[in-house]
Amino acid sequence: LAGLGLMIPSNPLDVLHNLNIDGKNYQFPKGFLWGVASAAAQVESRQGRARTDWDVFADWSGQIEDGSINDKCTEFETRYEDEIKLLSNAGIQAFRFSMSWARIQPDGSGKPSEKGLETYDRIIDTMLKHNIQPIVTMEHTDCPIWVGDFRYRDMSQRMADYADIVTKRYGDRVKQWIVMNEPNTTALEGYGVGKYAPGVKSIKALGAAIHHQNLAMALMISASRANLPATSKVGTTINVQPVRGNKDTPDYRKAIDFMDAVWNRAFMNPIYGKKDYCDVVKPMAAPFVQAGDMETLYASNPDFLGLNYYTAYYVKPDPASPVGIAQDMPPAKYPRTAYFPVVTDGLVETLERIHNDYGAPEILISETGFAFNDPAPVNGVVNDPERIKYISEYLKAVHAAIKKGIKVSGLMYWSSTDNWEWSHGFTKRFGLIHVDPKTQIRTPKSSLAYLGKCAKANTALE
Ligand code: NOJ
Repeated sequence: LAGLGLMIPSNPLDVLHNLNIDGKNYQFPKGFLWGVASAAAQVESRQGRARTDWDVFADWSGQIEDGSINDKCTEFETRYEDEIKLLSNAGIQAFRFSMSWARIQPDGSGKPSEKGLETYDRIIDTMLKHNIQPIVTMEHTDCPIWVGDFRYRDMSQRMADYADIVTKRYGDRVKQWIVMNEPNTTALEGYGVGKYAPGVKSIKALGAAIHHQNLAMALMISASRANLPATSKVGTTINVQPVRGNKDTPDYRKAIDFMDAVWNRAFMNPIYGKKDYCDVVKPMAAPFVQAGDMETLYASNPDFLGLNYYTAYYVKPDPASPVGIAQDMPPAKYPRTAYFPVVTDGLVETLERIHNDYGAPEILISETGFAFNDPAPVNGVVNDPERIKYISEYLKAVHAAIKKGIKVSGLMYWSSTDNWEWSHGFTKRFGLIHVDPKTQIRTPKSSLAYLGKCAKANTALE
């Protein structure tokens, strides 16, 4: 081929690293952590683990956009090494991944599965071998079906037992832990409007899911602290979002306040320092709150907040919805992607709100990302300039927030690879690495080289 004048690179990233993406300097503070994120339910196959609420939902709800199920996903539990090498070669420094509770405790509460535990020994050790810092999410949205669901209080204690198991096993190698992912999405989508597992539509169940998840987070944090060295960090991940409306009427204002309450304040207030639920959430949670609970939540005092930020949440009143509101589109000035509109001003607003209203905690951006209908791979690379453009835009917003004194310690891009996007199946591609779900072939995108280059320079490149 060389004789024909064609250059086939041995490593496609060699080509990508030569992209001309230098520009104005947005230097980040020393130690800022540049990483990627994923979740077991979206990347692991069902092999070797117990059945989960999301298996049931995928098999039976008829609500998955492309009719796909999560039986294989990207087979991360066996194919992780190639992916980790691609990330490491590009310059990525950290990988926030989740453990599957159904793999670690497949048979119910009590003794964990040694085989399941060994899966994550291998994954963690491979990350460390390739200089990638593992950040573990203990529960990212799915749960084994033997445990029931968040309508039941018992779930919180079962999760604390699970936190005890994983921190004992991996606490020597994993220094940063996230006990739960987006309890607000699970509460509203899973128990309020029924679009996520377990598919319940009820205000009463929403109240139970809010309180029992808060309790679970607090109990998980304290169970973890008992096992971890004082230098390790334990926090949780909430996708705090600005809630907005396209009209300014009393009905809209009520819808916005309700959404902000159940989405943001329901989880931020009790866990991040406000001691009590707000007026909207209090009566919803009250039937489930027992003596001493609010003190337990307040005392959990996490070491950091994991913030997932994608977009702003626009809502409108909707009497037909089980919760009285429905999602609306942001104004056209915000650029569209294949999924969430890009709302950069909302990122700045959110970081400032957390800093000002919740005692200026350390914030790890535990997810942000952009879905596009990417082109097919050509010569071992997928060209995705739009993703690079918006990553750069969000990075600059984070940089501006840091300059104002907001404590952002790192950013994990969602996601390492394209994967199974819950009710949207394989239709939303967020990855820095392209995956063909039929062949499982991984192909790096130009955005991987871009983010790796930013990481190496500790700078938001233009
Ligand atoms: C946040 C969730 O944590 C993750 O599971 C999901 O895939 C991304 N948002 C993109 O929607």
